Amino acid sequence: MTNTRNLGRVVLTGAAGRIGTVVRAALRDEAEELVLLDRVAVDPLNPVERARQLDLLDLDGMIAAFDGADSVVHLGGIPDEAGFAEVMEANVQGTYHVLEAARRQGVRRVVLASSNRAAGFYPVSELVSPARPPRPDGFYGVSKVAVEALGRLYADKFGLSVVCLRIGSFEEEPRDTRHLATWLSPRDCVGFVRAALTAPDASFTTVYAVSANTRRYWDTSDALGYVAVDNAEMFAGKVSGVEPAPDSPQGGVYAEAAYTLRHI
Ligand SMILES: NC(=O)c1ccc[n+]([C@@H]2O[C@H](COP(=O)([O-])OP(=O)(O)OC[C@H]3O[C@@H](n4cnc5c(N)ncnc54)[C@H](O)[C@@H]3O)[C@@H](O)[C@H]2O)c1
Repeated sequence: MTNTRNLGRVVLTGAAGRIGTVVRAALRDEAEELVLLDRVAVDPLNPVERARQLDLLDLDGMIAAFDGADSVVHLGGIPDEAGFAEVMEANVQGTYHVLEAARRQGVRRVVLASSNRAAGFYPVSELVSPARPPRPDGFYGVSKVAVEALGRLYADKFGLSVVCLRIGSFEEEPRDTRHLATWLSPRDCVGFVRAALTAPDASFTTVYAVSANTRRYWDTSDALGYVAVDNAEMFAGKVSGVEPAPDSPQGGVYAEAAYTLRHI
């Protein structure tokens, strides 16, 4: 019988979160060991799972938790706009700790959860590639620009293999007009994470993780070999909201001043 648990020991940060819960269930059958980290308690459900309640800000704890890890999927952090200090601490300092712990433990591959909101100020009429300069749509977007920059630094300077996934809108189903462009289905999310873990020869790369939506405004031509399977268009008759003007920002409501001002 062939060994299908070819991912080795995988550490998952943010394992209790929305995306972490889905990724965890998928990787359970593919990893020899799945180390589940979160600042809230996670119950291991399966013999391959090991759980540890740990804050990303605890560097010593992170180093210990990464012992023997082959790869890390870093999903932990604040997933939306928040006060500047709060979002920088969790997302930027937290990612620094992930990369530093990975460097010290000789981890082969680190997958970082970035966000489309690192570039949410491009207009919806443009097809944006990850190679374009960042245009964050809030403090959260700025934190994700810094996440990508830290990944690049650790790849260039210390030789870590880093893949950044600019995640779209992770939802069971699209719920509004923007999602018709930005939706990332759970199935495609798992596909992108698996591809990020297994892509050969990745020194550093950033890709948009988005489903094969007809209306998407992100260039997915260099998507680690993964071809998305779901398309939000099949839900077009079910969602509400008006079609955005061509010059309006891809970030939609997230790009509005009020969305950040309430945190200042
Ligand atoms: N959900 C989306 O549509 C989306 C889109 C783009 C990017 N992302 C990114 O994907 C990742 C996962 O998003 P999600 O939707 O699952 O978010 P989530 O809030 O459901 O999960 C994040 C997890 O991180 C944990 N966490 C937060 N701060 C922590 C800390 N200091 N120490 C340890 N654990 C901490 C939380 O307890 C939570 O379980 C995030 O980095 C987010 O920015 C998500």
